[in-house]
Amino acid sequence: MVSISDIRLFLKKNLTKQRYTHTIKVSKLAVKLAKHHKLKNIIKIEIAALLHDCQKRSNDKNNHSFLAEKLARTKFKIKDKKILYAIRHHTFGHRHMDNFSKIIYIADISEPSRKFPEAREIRRIAFKELDMAMVLALSTKIKYVLNERKPVSAESIILYNKLLKKSLTAEAQSARRKSKHVVLCVSAGKIK
Ligand SMILES: [Fe+2]
Ligand SMILES: [Fe+2]
Repeated sequence: MVSISDIRLFLKKNLTKQRYTHTIKVSKLAVKLAKHHKLKNIIKIEIAALLHDCQKRSNDKNNHSFLAEKLARTKFKIKDKKILYAIRHHTFGHRHMDNFSKIIYIADISEPSRKFPEAREIRRIAFKELDMAMVLALSTKIKYVLNERKPVSAESIILYNKLLKKSLTAEAQSARRKSKHVVLCVSAGKIK
């Protein structure tokens, strides 16, 4: 597999200073999150984060994730499916995202130099619950796109709905467990 230092060298030569700084911040946050959530293959997370914007040009906003995936395959000979999937879907998200690709999406939208107010909150929640951080990240992006009168990605909405449903189900289950516990405590005479 390609070395991290080769990728960094390529990025330094080919990206603008601002894009390079963003990329390094995304990779640092992604690695921190991956370690925190005990993911294996931290090196793969770092490679995906470093390459996520490797083809971004100022006149291209949406297509760059697909172009970056292509460059990762052709120039850096990356074959790893998780790395390629995370790069491809870091802009719009995708309904089948796993923790690996969620971390790349979250690190991209919330690295410390992001200026919008939700970035800090997304980062904070991401160290507790990746899905909830994704819900906030997706809703922030969708709201921004709507405000700009730009087309909304269907995949972003499908993923948002899926994660929201999952978190509401989890909340309902925990509320049900708590109420069961209260009933048991009352019947055992612990709560008066
Ligand atoms: Fe990007
Ligand atoms: Fe980015």
